[in-house]
Amino acid sequence: MYVCLCKGVSDRKIRESVEGGARSWREVQQETGCGTQCGKCACVGKTITREAIKAE
Ligand code: FES
Repeated sequence: MYVCLCKGVSDRKIRESVEGGARSWREVQQETGCGTQCGKCACVGKTITREAIKAE
């Protein structure tokens, strides 16, 4: 499922970013570009990031 339409970032991409070492929403943003354009996806993106970090 796409979380971020502006940058074409899926929830899977966010999880992969965390698996690859991203440790915060900011790091996921820097790596994927999620939430860096219109910002509408930021809330969902942050939630998925937090859950992925917790599940590590
Ligand atoms: Fe993610 Fe616009 S939908 S920045």
